[in-house]
Parts: sequence; structure tokens; C-alpha cells
Amino acid sequence: MTDLYDDPQPVLHTVTDRGAALALRPAQLGDAPGVLAACIDPETLRWTTVPLEYDHEKALGFVNDYAPGWWLRRQGAAFVIADAHDAYVGQIDLRVSGDPQVADVGFLTAPHARGHGYMSAALRAVAEWGIRELGLARVEWKAYVGNDGSRRVAEKAGFAYEGVQRNGCAHRGERRDAWVAAMVREDLVTGEGKA
Ligand SMILES: CC(C)(COP(=O)(O)OP(=O)(O)OC[C@H]1O[C@@H](n2cnc3c(N)ncnc32)[C@H](O)[C@@H]1OP(=O)(O)O)[C@@H](O)C(=O)NCCC(=O)NCCS
Repeated sequence: MTDLYDDPQPVLHTVTDRGAALALRPAQLGDAPGVLAACIDPETLRWTTVPLEYDHEKALGFVNDYAPGWWLRRQGAAFVIADAHDAYVGQIDLRVSGDPQVADVGFLTAPHARGHGYMSAALRAVAEWGIRELGLARVEWKAYVGNDGSRRVAEKAGFAYEGVQRNGCAHRGERRDAWVAAMVREDLVTGEGKA
């Protein structure tokens, strides 16, 4: 059987519920300004673990090291979400660590691009690809309790809500309760879990 990781990280294509085409592709140098703008946004800082005091150097580190690293280590993939003009509109990571059949996801949409249905489409595409092509049994979403936007994205992408995991997430030196949802292999077979 061919090991997908022997090939370059693929580009995934999807379409939002409003008909906009998106490409999920490896990060490029030209994405750095978009990554920087997204990672200094107050909502991003509130709901994710992106480093504080994000700067151009950290954005370059994301593009050159962090993002390609997941594929190179054969531990999933980090994608930039690009619009029809190939402009950065967000990012999404599918991360395998520990159990090789389980991945978790992390994502953010650029502030200027929110509310267009981009992340729902991107999350569904990444999760289905992970199950179909990487052979994952479970793709897990976790968010700090109260992140209603992220929860809605997960629901729209076809993830089934599972409950609250107490102290389930780390956040800047503290523990936070987490909402947990997942898409599992059987959801694709049966069609369940589709929003
Ligand atoms: C949460 C986030 C990723 C949503 O991205 P997005 O591309 O705007 O999401 P979509 O446009 O696909 O929205 C999907 C649904 O969520 C809803 N939604 C989005 N943000 C919302 C919010 N803050 N509160 C409630 N609902 C929200 C949308 O209305 C839409 O639902 P609808 O189609 O029923 O109207 C984005 O706001 C973001 O990057 N936030 C900061 C980082 C973050 O929270 N990352 C996730 C960490 S777990």
C-alpha cells in the first residue's frame, strides 16, 4: 500500500455552502502577513493558544517550520485556507499525536474573512480527507467552553457533540473546561453527523 506521506502534502479543494471555492494548501512565504494579522487578533488570542506577542518572525516560523512539520513528521497536516485568488483566509491543522488513528483539529479564520462559511467547509473537507485518505478512525474537535462560533463550525462540518471535558484544555498556564465533538469513520459510512 502506498504511504501518502511519501508524496508532497496534497492540496484539498472544497466549496462553501454559498458556492465559494477554497483551496487547502501548504503554507507559502506570501501567507506570512495574513498569518500575522490573524494571530494578533483579540478573538484568536482569546480562544486559541497561539503565542502572545506574535510578530513577523513567528509568522515566518509558522510558514517555514511549524506548518510543514506535521506532514514531514507523518503526523497529519497543517493547511492554509486560500480563497479563489489564492489569498490567505485562514488556517487549519489536523494533528496526529499519540494514538495513530486519532487526530485533533485546530483552526482560525482571518478576521476579515469570518462569517462567509469558510471554516465549516474547510473543517469538513479536512476531517473527511483524514478519515478517507489517512485512515483515521476519529477526528476530534475541542474548544474552550463558551466558544460558540467554533462549536457552530464543528456542528455544521458534521461533528457530533460529545460533552464537556473538565480541565480538558490548557490555556496560557491554566486549565479550562472543554467542549468535545468528533467525526468518526462510521459517520462517513452511514452519512450520520452531517449538518
Ligand atoms: C470560530 C471561527 C473559526 C469561525 O470561522 P468562520 O469562517 O467565520 O465560520 P463560518 O463562517 O464557517 O461560520 C459557521 C457558523 O458559525 C456561526 N458563527 C461564527 N462565529 C460565530 C460566533 N462568534 N458566535 C456564534 N456563531 C458564530 C456562523 O453564523 C455560521 O453559522 P450559520 O451558517 O448557521 O449562520 C472564527 O470566528 C475564528 O477564527 N475565531 C477565533 C479563533 C477560534 O476561535 N478558533 C477555534 C478554536 S477551537
